[in-house]
Amino acid sequence: MKILIKNGTLVNADKSIIADILIIDKKILKIASNIPTSDEYKIIDAKDKYVIPGGIDPHVHMQLPTPAGPSSDSFYTGSKAAIFGGTTTLIDFVTPTRGQSLTDALQKRIDEAKDTITNYSFHVSPVEWRNSTKSEIQDCFTKGFPSFKVYLAYKNTVGLNDKEFKQVLQTVGKIGGLVTIHCELGDEIEESRNKLISQNKTSVEFHPVSRPAEKEAKAVEKAIKFAAKHNCPIYIVHVSSELSLNLIKKAQDKGQTVYAETCPHYLLLDDSKYSGSFDKTAAFVLSPPLRKKSDQDALWNAINQNTIQTLGTDHCPFNFSQKKIGLNDFTKIPNGAGGVEHRIELLFTFGVLTNKISINKLVDITSTQVAKTFGLFPKKGIITKGADADIVIWNPKTERTISSKTHHQNCDCNIFEGFKIKGQAETIIRGGEIIVKDTKLSNNISKGKLLTR
Ligand code: URP
Ligand code: ZN
Ligand code: ZN
Repeated sequence: MKILIKNGTLVNADKSIIADILIIDKKILKIASNIPTSDEYKIIDAKDKYVIPGGIDPHVHMQLPTPAGPSSDSFYTGSKAAIFGGTTTLIDFVTPTRGQSLTDALQKRIDEAKDTITNYSFHVSPVEWRNSTKSEIQDCFTKGFPSFKVYLAYKNTVGLNDKEFKQVLQTVGKIGGLVTIHCELGDEIEESRNKLISQNKTSVEFHPVSRPAEKEAKAVEKAIKFAAKHNCPIYIVHVSSELSLNLIKKAQDKGQTVYAETCPHYLLLDDSKYSGSFDKTAAFVLSPPLRKKSDQDALWNAINQNTIQTLGTDHCPFNFSQKKIGLNDFTKIPNGAGGVEHRIELLFTFGVLTNKISINKLVDITSTQVAKTFGLFPKKGIITKGADADIVIWNPKTERTISSKTHHQNCDCNIFEGFKIKGQAETIIRGGEIIVKDTKLSNNISKGKLLTR
């Protein structure tokens, strides 16, 4: 397919220009002003619209197995929702069961993801340390999956102890990979949750009490210390608090490679969401929990100071029937919420339009830095000659209200319910194919591509 995008404002992380973009087959062939039209080209007029690189969400959990059943978006429904929000690439997770090899789990997850309609890739999670783990990590790395996710929380299921964590850092550091980390002190949180339940403190308001910012920050401190010792670059997922940010900034200032990600819910929602009845509060049970308004301010500042590099969604929705398993015990509520569809529109409305960040910064943290950090740049994350044609035409004028009644995420609730948003991914090109035209998904859209990195 040959596509010519005319008159748009092309926005990359470093600058914005008015230019035409010629796409031939799957790649960007030319960027210039006034590229002549031709009958061979499908012409898209992007006047008064932004033309931005396809979003890359570095943190999603589609159909994640939990005791309350899988997270409610399948790879198909979740990737469809992502596309409507302007995201053309997702990075999900390979989470083996204990005893299963990382390589088997990787193959199984690749099979599960076959209906994904965005491009997609995976971080691989060692959930224990066995004799073969070192060679399994090497194997995954060689196959093109160089980022490894560890959980310092969730000690009963996927969390690692300190010895196992150090072994992962040492191994991944040596082969040149990246360790991504869920930072919360698992043992202390487990103890605190058990204590609260034994005191009959079972309602949702005790979820944030059991996982305070101090326990996130202490885990961040440990991760930074261990990573420095083992010379391994790290990426801290879903950073929620000012306390953690201070530690990350200090390490970065000393020259250590520590990347940080935050999520829209930490920028826009706070812990007041935990007061009220179960049906009003259960949707907000996610970890780390929502924090204070002051933490939100610190996160916005950290984006502008480059302490935070990326915005992921940690998309992990559950229907109310699944959340309800924890009606009488908040520790049983499956952790997580959806958001893959809303990442860019929320950032545009509450970041760019309020002058908290520039449109270039939006592109940087939703696409460019993600591509750079996870080995996809410069094929992805930038609109430039030779790059893959993953492009979003963004109409800044559209106004809508987020609702579970109209969203594409497969979930009967939405933590951003009622948020009034401006701006919409109007036309989307993925790999040179127009997959959304004037906000309508094309018929017979092809499957997304599995990306090795
Ligand atoms: O509550 C959350 N974040 N659920 C998804 C799994 C994780 O911790 O990232
Ligand atoms: Zn996590
Ligand atoms: Zn997550």
